[in-house]
Amino acid sequence: MKQGAFAAAVLLVAALHGCSGGDGPLDPAQPPAPPPPPPPGSDLALGQAAVERECGICHASRDGFDLAYFSYADTTIVRRAVKHVDTATALRIVAYIRSLNTAHVPAKVKLFQPGGTVVASDAQFAIDLFGSDTWPVLSTAQLRAIDPRVTPIAFSLPPWSDEQSNLDWLPDSAPPAAILSYNGSRAGAALTAYHTNPTTANLGAVVSAMRDAERAGANPAAPCLFNTPSRVNYVACFELRRWTAALIAQHMLRGGINQSVGGEAHEQWWDVGNTARMAQQASTPSAIVNPAVNQIDWMYLGWMFEPGLHESFYLENLLAGRGLRRHAVFVALRGQVSRPPNSWDEHQAIYDDLRMAVRHAPNSWTASVATFALNHLLERLNGGERPLTTANRTRAITQIDGAITEATPKVSAAQLQALVNLAAQVKAKL
Ligand code: HEC
Repeated sequence: MKQGAFAAAVLLVAALHGCSGGDGPLDPAQPPAPPPPPPPGSDLALGQAAVERECGICHASRDGFDLAYFSYADTTIVRRAVKHVDTATALRIVAYIRSLNTAHVPAKVKLFQPGGTVVASDAQFAIDLFGSDTWPVLSTAQLRAIDPRVTPIAFSLPPWSDEQSNLDWLPDSAPPAAILSYNGSRAGAALTAYHTNPTTANLGAVVSAMRDAERAGANPAAPCLFNTPSRVNYVACFELRRWTAALIAQHMLRGGINQSVGGEAHEQWWDVGNTARMAQQASTPSAIVNPAVNQIDWMYLGWMFEPGLHESFYLENLLAGRGLRRHAVFVALRGQVSRPPNSWDEHQAIYDDLRMAVRHAPNSWTASVATFALNHLLERLNGGERPLTTANRTRAITQIDGAITEATPKVSAAQLQALVNLAAQVKAKL
């Protein structure tokens, strides 16, 4: 890893934790103090007004927070600003941005990159995490204690802005007026309330309203109606979702928050990736470029803040398809131990996790991976958690049997016998 990237990572971590004022986690409900307003009529006040009018909506920041936080050079700000305003205003914007009292990180920092560093390979990920290229003997509690938000991975997450590609947070466009005004301006009003009082609860209200407006059948301008193909606009949906995602990210960066700000918020990050997935599957091929990388990056971002929330299937298949099988196993099993009791019962998620982990495990990992996942299921069953319906019980058995079938060519005869015995214990409790 390059020295500069390391410094960037350290800085980002410092910034993420900088405002917590002690060892305890920051109270996400506590908004950061706003900067003092510049004197009216001054260059700073004019610069501020220009940012709010000309830049803030696309950048999902209103006040230009990102332009200061990501340490853009004056020349970069001017170069970008003059696409929207005259040179005198661009210079006032620079002066105003310099007056903002934010933390600073390098412009190209990879946002929320776990541990601030990228490991060299799939195997190195495991070696760094477990001490060797194996799935070790772990308890449920030990696996739960491994925090995906700080566990380095072998791929880069997106930076804030990349002028060359769509692999970044910044959307290419502002949210359409018809989204903000939908349903009695629910999203627009929530956004105004958030700007007045930027609490995590008010952010949540914006996220809910945006998610409704982007997919409501009653909204003629909703671009994300995936179940009505004739009305979907994948690119518009992708941009709109990135906009909400970028708003959420800046809320976290402003407050030094590196923990979940609510399931729906991180679901929104996941859904940016899901848009790329849906676009890729569409009968009319869509113009969202870098579909695979976008899916992995955004789904991982959503997953690492809410590891119990998502179905295993998509992210793990993508990771495995990119040669990151150990990462896929980690996502499956770290997801399995994170799911609240009976969550996703209709999908039998914890049983899917078993099967996906076994499917993607490298051969030498398979016996210990299957053993871990089966033991975890046994613990839950012993604790009284069972599928809620007969159909779900049947599906659970299908997934257990499927996992054994998928393990069979990858383990020794003795290992297989032990797995079959353990699987029988699990099934007996179902
Ligand atoms: C129409 C939407 C839009 C508006 C309005 C807008 N920007 Fe941007 N800006 C973008 C996008 C999109 C990018 C990211 C680059 C990309 O993806 O092409 C960006 C990137 C930037 C960057 C970072 C460039 C880099 O080095 O990556 C700066 C600085 C910037 N904008 C400043 C401004 C300023 C200042 C204003 C207001 C005067 C402004 N922008 C208004 C969309 C917008």
